[in-house]
Amino acid sequence: MTTITDTARPALAAGTAVLRATNLCSELPTENGTLRPVDGVSFTLRAGRTLGLVGESGSGKSLTSRMLLRLNPKGFRETGSVVLEGDEPIDLMELRRDGPAIRSVRGRRVAMIFQEPMTAFSPLYTIGDQIMEMILLHRTDDRREARRICLDMMRKVGIADAERRIDQYPHEFSGGMRQRAMIAMALSCGPEVLIADEPTTALDVTIQAQVLELMRQLQRELGMAILFITHDLGIVAEMCDDVAVMYLGRIVEHAPVREIFRRPRHPYTRGLLDAIPKLGRGRKARLASIEGTVPQAIDLPPMCGFFARCPVRIPGVCDVRDPEEVRIGSDHTVRCERHAPGARFGDETEVRA
Ligand SMILES: Nc1ncnc2c1ncn2[C@@H]1O[C@H](COP(=O)(O)OP(=O)(O)OP(=O)(O)O)[C@@H](O)[C@H]1O
Ligand code: SF4
Ligand SMILES: [Mg+2]
Repeated sequence: MTTITDTARPALAAGTAVLRATNLCSELPTENGTLRPVDGVSFTLRAGRTLGLVGESGSGKSLTSRMLLRLNPKGFRETGSVVLEGDEPIDLMELRRDGPAIRSVRGRRVAMIFQEPMTAFSPLYTIGDQIMEMILLHRTDDRREARRICLDMMRKVGIADAERRIDQYPHEFSGGMRQRAMIAMALSCGPEVLIADEPTTALDVTIQAQVLELMRQLQRELGMAILFITHDLGIVAEMCDDVAVMYLGRIVEHAPVREIFRRPRHPYTRGLLDAIPKLGRGRKARLASIEGTVPQAIDLPPMCGFFARCPVRIPGVCDVRDPEEVRIGSDHTVRCERHAPGARFGDETEVRA
């Protein structure tokens, strides 16, 4: 069987830490105060494993994922570290936002696919030229070989008539087609880390299934680590090994996927899961919204950000301090006073103050 990345690097050992993000913070000064859309986010991406990042719109998922590649606009003050492991670990946060060092990482070692494919392509060059440029930069000097790899990747993501399509410009592609072309470009160099921000939302179910399978195949071949942002809990169940639930710029719960579905501990995670009809917890289940709205992350007082919406809040406790991250078992963490060490509050009590 031919592999997707026949000339790329050998697979990394499963479970090896590939990228460690520590205490990521992002601040944006505004007229009304300082916006803090990412506030102390840490996680590790491991070879051959997929971490799902879920949470309502505006919780900071995209900003977090773009921080990993230094792609956010200059106005954001970003701190923390993003260490790309290897023979010589590099802290990507120490690199200049648009310098040559970060550019040699983008695409080759860490690739990204996002919601809006138009931003991935220049309107001035053909789709094939742009995918081949990536392949020529990182995989081969031979143009014919680059074209062959490009055609192969285009077919693999479900672009019919790839021989003709390869010489077309982005505006000649429909939105769904551009999405597939972007995925082909991202996977063409066999990256160690793939950041996927809602990559298949715009695709129909059949193509979505093909693309997800392609990602899994590449993950098996190369031990690629994936950060998968999605609103689709069916995809989380199918694709992810671990899940990080984000709320108001923070990870409020982080656990293996089975644990999240079976024993969610944070009231917000519970709310998200409870809002889905039981029968819908299959392929089609999407993140439902729960009562209330996410506050703006501007000059927040030290208290639980979920307080106003939480059905089990504890007045006098949750609204006077910031809940610390608590470890429950070896690989499950949660930020909630109900799970604080020595907490004397029942786990399930409903308090409506
Ligand atoms: N360029 C920007 N300028 C100002 N505020 C921004 C900018 N980009 C994002 N934000 C704000 O930061 C917060 C987090 O945005 P982000 O795009 O990361 O959310 P998200 O979790 O990816 O949401 P979605 O699920 O809708 O994609 C939001 O409140 C958003 O309004
Ligand atoms: S800390 Fe309190 S308000 Fe926040 S989620 Fe836990 S119980 Fe609810
Ligand atoms: Mg987003």
